[in-house]
Amino acid sequence: MTNAEPPALQVDNLRVYYWTARGPVKAVDDISFTINRNERFGFIGESGCGKTTTIMAILRLIKRPGKIESGRIVLNGRDLVALDKEEMRQVRWNKISLIPQGAMNSLNPIMRVRDQIADTILTHKGAVEAPLLREEIRGLLDMVELPAKVADMYPHELSGGMKQRVCIAMATALEPELIIADEPTSALDVVVQKAVMQTLIGVQERLGASMILIGHDMGLTAQVLDRVGVMYAGKLVEVAPIRELYRRPQHPYTQALISSLPSVREKKRGGGIPGLPPFLLNPPPGCLFRSRCPHAFEPCQTITPPLQAVQPGHLAACHLYGPGLQPGLPQSHESWKQANVDTTV
Ligand SMILES: Nc1ncnc2c1ncn2[C@@H]1O[C@H](COP(=O)(O)OP(=O)(O)OP(=O)(O)O)[C@@H](O)[C@H]1O
Ligand code: SF4
Ligand SMILES: [Mg+2]
Repeated sequence: MTNAEPPALQVDNLRVYYWTARGPVKAVDDISFTINRNERFGFIGESGCGKTTTIMAILRLIKRPGKIESGRIVLNGRDLVALDKEEMRQVRWNKISLIPQGAMNSLNPIMRVRDQIADTILTHKGAVEAPLLREEIRGLLDMVELPAKVADMYPHELSGGMKQRVCIAMATALEPELIIADEPTSALDVVVQKAVMQTLIGVQERLGASMILIGHDMGLTAQVLDRVGVMYAGKLVEVAPIRELYRRPQHPYTQALISSLPSVREKKRGGGIPGLPPFLLNPPPGCLFRSRCPHAFEPCQTITPPLQAVQPGHLAACHLYGPGLQPGLPQSHESWKQANVDTTV
């Protein structure tokens, strides 16, 4: 990719709130990121941090009481937030496809696989002649490494891995530019997870699509991602190439997340991060990780840290990194005070 090439997707200052009787739950609160062409970008973070809400917003599938409050979601120069319902329906499936959380349970139990795939194709492409349709379905099953005979089977005759492959075939039938997969392997056993992930990556590469992947297994997703965004309490707190993130995590939350992973080499069991994420109902300003952060200091109580570069291509939202600082080195509390004298309270 050349630098001049525009990103496949650009999200600017996206806010998505769920309006409850007690006030807004700020599930996604002012996040910005880009996805490059052919790139596999992943979101990681604890349960409830806003990963699914982010991707559902990209697809404009947020349901009440949720609402996109503000922001831009630009795909190929078009802001999806500004599209009407019919325009957005065309973008879904044709341009962006979704493999949702628990996709394989959404297959219709009383329809053969062939008819379910055909439905997807006919709904979005219009009429297709029967022999062509049969050929297309055979090609799709082949692409997801399923034998042709699966077309005539019902979901209950398939294993979990096979069902998930059918969902991948359906989601990619219209050759989207962007594939979004929300925990595509979470309900499968470990060996099958890896095989299904490889199939998914194979399809993405064959289509030349970009991809957003949410994975519950950080080890597995790390093997396939190019870049990753770490979410915490509705905010994007770190973005970096995957290797860089694992080798040199900069945000204290990412550091805790990575050190909580089990390690075979160090014979270490995985453990959680002490403390709980904050409730997202009208959260206060300041860094939302402060009650769990071993480095929290004065500004963290009141000033929300912006996401900024700590190295070229490596962003973190933490007051330990700030103006007047050598890239990559945490600044001292004293130097933060000197550099930010006007903004402290
Ligand atoms: N319909 C709703 N009403 C109120 N709050 C909601 C609703 N749906 C989601 N939320 C809240 O929004 C926040 C983000 O939820 P989301 O499902 O996006 O998280 P997630 O990162 O995908 O979690 P998980 O890893 O468990 O899938 C959570 O705090 C959740 O409680
Ligand atoms: S901003 Fe403060 S509380 Fe938040 S992660 Fe950085 S040091 Fe910790
Ligand atoms: Mg989710």
